[in-house]
Amino acid sequence: MADFILNVNGAHVHVQAPFDESLLSVLRNRLHLTGTKYGCGEGQCGACTVLLDGEATRSCLVAVGSAANAKIITIEGLEHDGKLSAVQQAFLDEGAFQCGYCTAGMILSATGLLQRTPKPTAEQIVDAMNGNLCRCGTYPRIVAAIQRAAQSMPAKGANR
Ligand code: FES
Ligand code: FES
Repeated sequence: MADFILNVNGAHVHVQAPFDESLLSVLRNRLHLTGTKYGCGEGQCGACTVLLDGEATRSCLVAVGSAANAKIITIEGLEHDGKLSAVQQAFLDEGAFQCGYCTAGMILSATGLLQRTPKPTAEQIVDAMNGNLCRCGTYPRIVAAIQRAAQSMPAKGANR
């Protein structure tokens, strides 16, 4: 076991874990941030996506030791003062989910996209979201939600 101080959703949290335990496991099982989902565990589905220093990242593939110096944002960190982020709100408004299992990962991937490309084309959205799988097939609504979020946001601040 090793001691880590992680920067999660703007707060420094202390956690003990094996150095090579996945960030996904630490978030869910040690910090009880269960909004981040376990899908494949192999980097193939995107359900576990979080932002690491603004980059959409598969947390199942990242050892907690490598995330110790990064700013980690999970789905729980997107809402501020009771207000959903623009992307969260757009997913709700477009009904861009059915079972919701993929949704947190989708929203974090979309947030990462809009932070670096505030007004993406449909092609850029599809490219950026390509690694996030939705077994319920809500892809058209997800693309529409991301377009709606892009329209509703100022050029900066996708996570607001
Ligand atoms: S659980 Fe990480 S990509 Fe599937
Ligand atoms: S809404 Fe069910 S997997 Fe995407």
